[in-house]
Amino acid sequence: IFPPGREEEILKSELKVTVRNAVAGTDPDWGCLGIFVFQGERFEAADNWPVGQETRDLIRKILKRNDLAGKLYRETVFFPEHGPAPPMIILIGLGKRDEFTLDKLRGAAAKAGKAAQSHREEKLILLLDPSYLRIEGPEAAGAAVEGVTLGLYRFSAFKTLDREEGQDLQFLTILVPERSRLKAVRAEVAVAVKICRAAYLARDLTSMPANELTPAVLAEKAQILAEGRAKLTVTILSAPEMKRLGMNSLLGVASGSDQEPKFIIVSYLGGDEATSPVVFVGKALTFDSGGISLKPAEKMDEMKSDMAGGAAVLGAVSAAADLELPINVVALIPATENMPGGKACRPGDILRSMSGKTIEVINTDAEGRLILADALHYASRFEPAAIIDVATLTGACIVALGEQVTGMMGADGPLKEEIKRASQQTGEMVWELPLWENYHEQIKSEVADFKNSAGRTGGAITAAAFLSKFVGPYPWVHLDIAGPAWLTKETAYQPKGASGVGVRLLVRFLRNRCRK
Ligand code: BES
Ligand code: MN
Ligand code: ZN
Repeated sequence: IFPPGREEEILKSELKVTVRNAVAGTDPDWGCLGIFVFQGERFEAADNWPVGQETRDLIRKILKRNDLAGKLYRETVFFPEHGPAPPMIILIGLGKRDEFTLDKLRGAAAKAGKAAQSHREEKLILLLDPSYLRIEGPEAAGAAVEGVTLGLYRFSAFKTLDREEGQDLQFLTILVPERSRLKAVRAEVAVAVKICRAAYLARDLTSMPANELTPAVLAEKAQILAEGRAKLTVTILSAPEMKRLGMNSLLGVASGSDQEPKFIIVSYLGGDEATSPVVFVGKALTFDSGGISLKPAEKMDEMKSDMAGGAAVLGAVSAAADLELPINVVALIPATENMPGGKACRPGDILRSMSGKTIEVINTDAEGRLILADALHYASRFEPAAIIDVATLTGACIVALGEQVTGMMGADGPLKEEIKRASQQTGEMVWELPLWENYHEQIKSEVADFKNSAGRTGGAITAAAFLSKFVGPYPWVHLDIAGPAWLTKETAYQPKGASGVGVRLLVRFLRNRCRK
């Protein structure tokens, strides 16, 4: 959906993934073959691996000559000359077996994808042998697809020069040596492809600059997403409707901008009509200049990504629909800019939120919690089974946990456990911060019910304490993604920039709920 006229091209560039059963020694359609290897182990290819004796011997020789070939994420590329073999083989190190995790497989798969890409290969075949990896076939295949896909992401929609340089990797084949679980592997691969599509959507939206992605455009993207998908409905509230509802906290933030705010409601009814939905709330500042409490110029450009929470919940609900999950999900996305216009809200102003509770604005740069206050209150009308908000809320969370980790706060133990489980499964790292009484003290105002800033110390937590005041009697968890939403350094399978964080976590959370 970006930008106009390029939709088809972008769709065409999607990696095509297939699953095949390996027949020992032969394959009519070789591309380059990726083989994962552990470090410090004698290499034994099982009989059903699709490599001939010459190649087995060669791999064994390589690993014997240099044990570092099995080092985590190390890649060794060679071009076999003898026997039935693919034209190019990439060995990818998995590190030591006893330190191996599913997330390392994602990273290793990403390395394989990038190595194939840099050799201008169009096809990559990844051999996934569950008995060698000691991971279930479907799980391994899903992780490998995620790793390759997420690792190869680039935001090139606005590049007009230097575009044809290098052929893109177009085909990925997952090769499984055992016939028995082929169907389950195929199913999980199909799921992974859909989840990656949603993560790409979130990354694209997050990468888009604020002049291209205004609140109105974001609303339009949501509407396009729902077109022709029966169980997905989108409702957009504009400023007059927000006014009528009394969303003055949100409108207070919007008042400094010439861009119209939009309150985007996306609902997916995949479950029983009578069952309560899970409500996701995503902060969507299409740009956060700080408002009257203006931010410094350095890195202010990165505040185009201050809608990553909104992008994540949009991606998650869209994936839920793609996967036809038997569950009801509502995504609420308050979208606005935070700008220092003549009508902008000032420090000292008092806003009357939709809940009726009043807020003293100490710092106009603490705007995320202001728009979330009204969105969280609005969530009550769905009598939700759970509320999860996702927001690039505080720099303090980055200071506390570093840029790769999401901060989690909330009072509902079981819901937090569900998130922790999804975190472990997806490799999206989440760590809990406390939300004790003392933090609640700090956000009381002298002149209003609450103030929107309690200063620097414990900033991630006082922000969560503030949010909690607007949540009804429903299980709720707050996820502060200020760090991982925008990476300044690439990781094993996440390029620099927009990560799409939250999408895989939330989808896993939903899938787990559906299984119960
Ligand atoms: N969007 C920012 C938080 C942020 C900072 C996200 C850096 C990603 C990278 C948020 O609106 C903000 O400005 N928070 C302030 C709150 C403070 C004024 C209480 C912050 O963290 O400094
Ligand atoms: Mn801000
Ligand atoms: Zn912000």
